[in-house]
Formats: sequence, C-alpha cells, structure tokens
Amino acid sequence: TSAQYVPLCPADALAPGEMSRFDPEGMDPIVLCNYQGDYYALEDECTHAIASMAEGEFVEDQLVCPVHGGRFCVTTGAATKLPCRQALKTWPISIVDGVVCLQID
Ligand code: FES
Repeated sequence: TSAQYVPLCPADALAPGEMSRFDPEGMDPIVLCNYQGDYYALEDECTHAIASMAEGEFVEDQLVCPVHGGRFCVTTGAATKLPCRQALKTWPISIVDGVVCLQID
C-alpha cells in the first residue's frame, strides 16, 4: 500500500514545546506536538476517559491529561503515569514542501 499524506500546518507553525489540536477530515482529532524541533502526532483523546490531551500540559517529553493527570510519552505514545495504561495511537510525520503531514496507510 502507498502512504497517504494528510496536511496539517506549515512546518514553522509550532515552536518547540508547543502543541495544537487538529481535526483532519474523516479522522478522530489528533494533537500535534513539537518536541525539541521534531513533530509528533498522537490521538487527542485520552485513553483513560474523555479528555482532550491538547487542553492539558506539555512538559518535557510528556503530555499530561487535564482531567486526571495521567501522562503519555510524546515520542512513543506510551502511557507513563496512572490512571492511563493504554498508549495513545501515533502516526509518522513527513514534512512535504514545508508542510507538516500525517502519514497514513
Ligand atoms: Fe485522562 Fe483520566 S481522562 S487521565
């Protein structure tokens, strides 16, 4: 299968340490994070209950849930603090002609 690219924003849209929520057509919301100059895309809804991770905190390489304080690793999606146990889904990112794109199969 060939990869599809879903454009999100210009490559300079987010500074390191910033994140933003996007609602790509036909997909669940994603949170895009700039961690140390690299972009990472994760599903925006916390795997514990109902919360938008983009409304929480982005601390070092961790996303902190605004509802119960669970955490996930930005680079892997892994749950790193209870009550979160299940990882956030992640997508590879490609920069195509200066645009940050999700890579989906
Ligand atoms: Fe995120 Fe509970 S909803 S930790």
